[in-house]
Amino acid sequence: MTRVLVVYATRFGSTREVASAMVHELNASGLQAHAAEASNSPPPENYDAFVIGSPLYGGKWISVAGLYAALMAGRIKEKPVALFSMGGLGIKHPEAGLAQHKEFLKNLIEVAPSLNVVSDAVFSGYFERSNLPWYLKIVDRFAPTPQGDHRDWSKIQIWSRSLVTKFRLNQ
Ligand SMILES: Cc1cc2nc3c(=O)[nH]c(=O)nc-3n(C[C@H](O)[C@H](O)[C@H](O)COP(=O)(O)O)c2cc1C
Repeated sequence: MTRVLVVYATRFGSTREVASAMVHELNASGLQAHAAEASNSPPPENYDAFVIGSPLYGGKWISVAGLYAALMAGRIKEKPVALFSMGGLGIKHPEAGLAQHKEFLKNLIEVAPSLNVVSDAVFSGYFERSNLPWYLKIVDRFAPTPQGDHRDWSKIQIWSRSLVTKFRLNQ
C-alpha cells in the first residue's frame, strides 16, 4: 500500500480544499493518502510519496510550504514528490502563470536538489477581493487577480490520478 502525504499551505483556505480533493482522489485510486498543513511540520517518515503545494503570492509559494519541501528534502530523499501551485495569473495569461510556477520550482530545486520530483502542475485558484486585509489590497492594486472560484476540479482530479502510476513506479 502506497502511503501518500499531501502537504499544503494556504492563506484563505482554498488550497486546503484542493488538498482534500487530491486526498479523496488518491484514496479512490487505491492509495492511502492524508493531508496536512505545512505549518504543522508533519513528519514524513511513515510515507512513501509526497504531494506538496501552495498558492503563489507575488510569484512565490507561502514560505512555510517552500521551507517544508526544502527542509524535509534530506529526509524524503529517494521517495517520489509531486509539486503543485495554485494561482490567479494563469486565468488570463496561462503561459505567464506556468512560467511563474516553473520559475519558483527551479529556485526550490536549486536549494533542495535531492527532491525526487516526478510531476508538477499549476492550477487556477480562488480569490475574493473583499477577504483581503488592507495591506494585501494595496499589493493587489498593482497586479489585480481575477475574482471568483477558478479551480478546475476535473483538471485537479486528472492530475491526482496521474500520480498513482508515477508514485508506484518510483517507490
Ligand atoms: C495579494 C495577492 C497576490 C497574489 N499573487 C499571485 C501571483 O503572483 N501569481 C498567481 O498566479 N496568483 C497570485 N495570487 C492568487 C492566489 O494565488 C490565489 O487566489 C490562490 O488560489 C489563493 O489560495 P488560498 O485561498 O489557499 O490562499 C495572488 C493573490 C493575492 C490576493
